[in-house]
Amino acid sequence: MSRLLSDLGVELPVLAAPMAGGGSTPELVVAAGRAGSLGFLAAGYKTPAALDEQMRRVRAEGVPFGVNLFAPNPVPVPVDAYARYARAMQAEADRYGLSLSATGPTEDDDDWAAKIDLIVGSPVPWVSFTFGIPDARVVATLRRAGITVLQSVTSAEEADEAARAGVDALIVQGPAAGGHSATLTPDRPLASVSLPHLVARVRSTVTLPIIAAGGIGGPATWRPRCTRGRTPP
Ligand SMILES: Cc1cc2nc3c(=O)[nH]c(=O)nc-3n(C[C@H](O)[C@H](O)[C@H](O)COP(=O)(O)O)c2cc1C
Repeated sequence: MSRLLSDLGVELPVLAAPMAGGGSTPELVVAAGRAGSLGFLAAGYKTPAALDEQMRRVRAEGVPFGVNLFAPNPVPVPVDAYARYARAMQAEADRYGLSLSATGPTEDDDDWAAKIDLIVGSPVPWVSFTFGIPDARVVATLRRAGITVLQSVTSAEEADEAARAGVDALIVQGPAAGGHSATLTPDRPLASVSLPHLVARVRSTVTLPIIAAGGIGGPATWRPRCTRGRTPP
């Protein structure tokens, strides 16, 4: 991993993860780059035009950066399960004057093809994928454009699948990650596993470089368990 980072001039081993929904502003990504880290723009929920504008703003500042995309991985949502969830969330929605009963589940690929075309047409140093693993041809196209391709995974099985798609490196996300899980199977509960243990499992399955993410609270977070010689759960 350190070679991939040093190739970009990144000095810090701590990166600014993508946060869709507004958190990962160009200013944050530029600040991360100036601090010797690497920041990610979050393409999720954005139009291709809005992403293009944010990529231009970061590029103009001359810092390395990445872009994170939601890769399609449709998981059909049963209409009754959706309706139950909408009812459970309605009290929260009322605070914003929204009615959740007006629509049913809708599938949306988050403008996948247009965003890939945009990034291939004006390559960025790193691209990462979350929620789905792209087709090997898409990965190869991005790599031919000089882009380092990363895949978010939450298990050794997903890591193996990502390796077979040809990605350069993995983001191994533990179940304590904030925001949402990158799991490829959101219809199943997440396995309860500590991040160090998950990284070790992935490491024994694939040889790709790894970035660990999720619930990293500080140097002391895992020490008590590990120094007592017990294997974390
Ligand atoms: C508000 C929010 C939005 C997020 N959006 C994305 C996203 O768009 N893409 C992604 O890969 N991860 C996203 N994540 C997950 C983070 O990239 C990262 O994996 C996770 O926050 C790391 O765990 P931590 O929050 O415990 O440090 C988001 C996290 C938060 C808190």
